[in-house]
Amino acid sequence: MTGVLPRLALALLCLLWAGAEVPVQPGFDAEKFAGTWHITAAVSNCSVFLKMKDGMKSSITTVSFTPEGDLAMKLLWPLQDRCEKLELLFQRSGQAGHYMGTSAQEKRDLCVMETDYSSYAVLHQRRQSGQRPTATLQLLTRGAAASPQLLQRFKELIPTMGLAEDMLAILPRSGECQEGAGWHP
Ligand SMILES: *[C@@H]1O[C@H](CO)[C@@H](O)[C@H](O)[C@H]1NC(C)=O
Repeated sequence: MTGVLPRLALALLCLLWAGAEVPVQPGFDAEKFAGTWHITAAVSNCSVFLKMKDGMKSSITTVSFTPEGDLAMKLLWPLQDRCEKLELLFQRSGQAGHYMGTSAQEKRDLCVMETDYSSYAVLHQRRQSGQRPTATLQLLTRGAAASPQLLQRFKELIPTMGLAEDMLAILPRSGECQEGAGWHP
């Protein structure tokens, strides 16, 4: 699957695998977390992301859970002239709010670091694909834009995960890929 992903999508999904402890939202409630989110900011030390971050736009992700408790993400990416659709599945781990994705090429790790369910969530993703692991933090918001307060909170978390603010991309809103508006092939 990885081979067909557009580079832009890969860049924003740059996940990594490393040993560091990542805090997870205490008492994580999957049911409340499900639904539609906008990815409004991201910070990553993945080189592909860093090269492309200035051209990226906000994307929409719909989160649902399988009966087994695995997390499914459907993403809509605004590319130059169309919307790219992408689906990812993360398996549940022993800990609520912590999920893992494995494929032949890479190992991924996703933690919901904190969320109030109704306005924002911060996801931490790690990816190991042979070379150095990379780390990504994403700010998800229910609304299409993040408030200055949320962005501030997000920025505070950046150094705690070993990342730097110059790796940050605040993703501008894109009207192109509205949920329910269908795909633009
Ligand atoms: C990205 O940051 C994580 C956490 O600090 C670190 O473990 C990893 O080695 C870094 N990867 C790169 C490519 O700089």
